[in-house]
Amino acid sequence: MPLTPTLVIGGGMITHDQLLPALFHRQRQGRLGEITICAQHQRTVAALASAPAILKAFPEQSFRAFPTTEGAQPHLYKELLKELPPFSTVLVALPDQLHFAAVMDALEANQHVLCVKPLVLTAKEAETIAETAHAKGLLVAVEYHKRFDDRAHKARGFYRDGRLGDFKLGTARLMEKWYYRDSNFQNWCTKENTDTFTYIGCHYVDLVHFITGLLPVAVSNYGIVDTYPNGREGYLWCDTRVRWNNGAVLNVQTSLCYPNEAAGPNTQGMTLYCSGPSGALLDHSDQYRGLAYSLTSKASSPGATFYTEPSPDYFQYNDLGGPGLVPVGYGVRSVDYILDTIDSLAGLDLTARQAALKAIDRKGILATPSNSRYNELVVEAGRLSILNGGREAVIDYDSHTVALA
Ligand SMILES: NC(=O)c1ccc[n+]([C@@H]2O[C@H](COP(=O)([O-])OP(=O)(O)OC[C@H]3O[C@@H](n4cnc5c(N)ncnc54)[C@H](O)[C@@H]3O)[C@@H](O)[C@H]2O)c1
Repeated sequence: MPLTPTLVIGGGMITHDQLLPALFHRQRQGRLGEITICAQHQRTVAALASAPAILKAFPEQSFRAFPTTEGAQPHLYKELLKELPPFSTVLVALPDQLHFAAVMDALEANQHVLCVKPLVLTAKEAETIAETAHAKGLLVAVEYHKRFDDRAHKARGFYRDGRLGDFKLGTARLMEKWYYRDSNFQNWCTKENTDTFTYIGCHYVDLVHFITGLLPVAVSNYGIVDTYPNGREGYLWCDTRVRWNNGAVLNVQTSLCYPNEAAGPNTQGMTLYCSGPSGALLDHSDQYRGLAYSLTSKASSPGATFYTEPSPDYFQYNDLGGPGLVPVGYGVRSVDYILDTIDSLAGLDLTARQAALKAIDRKGILATPSNSRYNELVVEAGRLSILNGGREAVIDYDSHTVALA
């Protein structure tokens, strides 16, 4: 059987840092066909093709790059979708507010989809995607890679065995570095489109569900507006309270505020306090994983520091004797798991694919539009709340709607 070809839509940070290395690795192992990447501008794919880290790790590999000419070409990916054989894989790595149209275009072209989180910004959009995917027997997987961090499984096992009691109060934080403000983020991570909770806070909401099985029922999202270097405004500091269906409360703080000179690429972690015969506690430092280095020189990448606390668990290149380097970590495992799942559907007829997709939904390891609808409800409630000064928005699971409390 020919190897599955892949189209990546979007050639920015997440494609460089995680998706393309994971795809090249799979291709090098003979488990993936041709890779095509389509960005909006030719300069984006040119930068990706000449990125030093990628060239060093994959000296013998290349991808088909689009656009091939100057000028913004926001619809070019639709032409590429037409030439992709049905039941191939499309990776959507676009700014949050563009996911819906691209996922629907991919489904219309009969393609399986890996979409970076958050899937979409409203529950209605998620429902439309779920219905279309089911009717066509296509997988849409939302790439919540924290689900493939081994510590998430440790916690999930303890919680589901009853050894972490009943979650009551929790805090989570994910602060990205200040320099993000200078990146392409200033063109899309703006007030009218999204906010830092929607962009990265969704990881911890999804993780609490993944570990505990609880459902979020209300969101109060307070955002502080800040101005990017290009003059645009964004909710770059968010304090968000998420209530759960057992009465628990998770406070999530997110921002683009972690100092450029602070150690590590970001700061992040989660603490959950739980009830039990004598109490129970989960405490994960997701940034500091026990490694600290004080180097003689800084890397050339933005946010690099002399003193650093890298996380080898998300993504790292290892030298295993070549050629190039081998990417490892839960960022790679997550993409691999999704692509393995897509490969497992090959050759099945529509009825068999629909049955297989239902089983994937039930297992709950992969986030899909059907089994993680709570994520889109939280995002929708969070956006409603932040645009109303942080007033609480409640989720109705019967109608799949949100409203101000
Ligand atoms: N930790 C995480 O899970 C994580 C981290 C970073 C980003 N993300 C998600 O990934 C997505 C992209 O983020 P990023 O950091 O790569 O952003 P980015 O701004 O670096 O890149 C966005 C890319 O989309 C491309 N693009 C925009 N419109 C396009 C179009 N019409 N056709 C083709 N390409 C188009 C741009 O050219 C750019 O290459 C966002 O949804 C973000 O939330 C997730």
